[in-house]
Amino acid sequence: MYGDGRVTTGEEGSGRGRLVGRRVLLVVSGGIAAYKAAELVRRFRGEGAEVRVVATAGALRFVGAATFQALSGNRVRHDLWDEEAEAAMGHIELARWAEVVVAAPASAHLLARLAHGLADDLPTTLVLATEAPLLLVPAMNRVMWAHPATRANVALLRARGAVVLEPEEGEQACGESGPGRLPETPIVVGAVLSLLRPGSGKDALPAVLAGRRVVVTAGPTREPLDAVRYIGNRSSGRMGYAVARAARRAGAEVVLVSGPVALDSPAGVRAIRVETALEMREAALAAARGADLFVAVAAVADYRPARRETGKPAKDPKGALLALVPNPDVVAEVARLDPRPFVVGFAAETGDLEEHCRSKLERKGLDMIAGNLVGPDRGFDTEENALHVFWRGGEARLGPAPKDELARRLVALVARRLAGEEGS
Ligand code: C5P
Repeated sequence: MYGDGRVTTGEEGSGRGRLVGRRVLLVVSGGIAAYKAAELVRRFRGEGAEVRVVATAGALRFVGAATFQALSGNRVRHDLWDEEAEAAMGHIELARWAEVVVAAPASAHLLARLAHGLADDLPTTLVLATEAPLLLVPAMNRVMWAHPATRANVALLRARGAVVLEPEEGEQACGESGPGRLPETPIVVGAVLSLLRPGSGKDALPAVLAGRRVVVTAGPTREPLDAVRYIGNRSSGRMGYAVARAARRAGAEVVLVSGPVALDSPAGVRAIRVETALEMREAALAAARGADLFVAVAAVADYRPARRETGKPAKDPKGALLALVPNPDVVAEVARLDPRPFVVGFAAETGDLEEHCRSKLERKGLDMIAGNLVGPDRGFDTEENALHVFWRGGEARLGPAPKDELARRLVALVARRLAGEEGS
């Protein structure tokens, strides 16, 4: 499982065949630890994986292409402009081929280029062009690792969903001692296994929520006026369902409390269908007791009609006045539980996003809030979305991206905060 790069895999054995048929793209960058990448290729192959190696120009100054070629059984790529190699397998094809991209060793320079989205050579272009999960295994001098520039690059890459392992402490090739050594091969192999375990290909998520109990609310609520009419809203439930799916893929046991939507329940998730805010509160509170994480994506109606008429009253030509009473705030009630889960709210806003989000964070007692601007063509009932996430002392921007991708990034971010809170 992951938490800010620390890994305990429970996979320290050298079991054979745990990567049979999996496609690993190994990016090797320039650093003395490049020689250890040769051992990684052997281990990936030993586990049954197909491995293709892409090296930076710097890497090939430390280890010759022939070494990687012999060990991987495939030609080593390093040049974006190699016509022969491109004709055999174009770089976009190679990016699509990968089920997981592992950069080991990832030098400070490679991290910086990736953090900035540069595509000035074949390895960086491939990382930009792939939808596969990205595992970065840094190795460098301890001062370079501690430098604020490297710290910021690592934080940015993690916020975008990359898994960055912590280098190991010890004697360094430069004669110094401290954190900067490439983690041992079994740790890297274990991390790759975790990345590939829950799904495959672009759906893969590291098992960052393995063993966690997660509750997600989604969709609108309907507040009945009479037997056929109700007050509702335009929430499609897509974002909440995407979060439930992403949490499940990250290894969690998930309960989804859903208002009325036209979506199928995600596989492997326990879905509880409700209609009104009062029903949602009851189901959500029951599920939230003992949960580790509560994510309130539902667009709960703020009010309900003070009385529910029986049957279908005929229309009154003089018009009608509707008395409304406030609904309970489900997420705020969950945040008051003791013990309580880590609580994440959502806020759809049309005005000053940060101000509204930060005040809701405090007022509702949340640990984190994901704000999105809504308007006629964004937010609700759309495929794409962008989130601005706030917590005490921090913020992150996710997207714009399709809701499934956004949900994956949010789950990765929440998992890191959750692990951080427990660690502090
Ligand atoms: O106050 P507002 O409705 O903007 O807050 C949005 C957040 O609060 C969302 O996470 C939503 O699921 C949650 N909420 C709730 N119960 C309500 C109203 C909002 O859980 N009655």
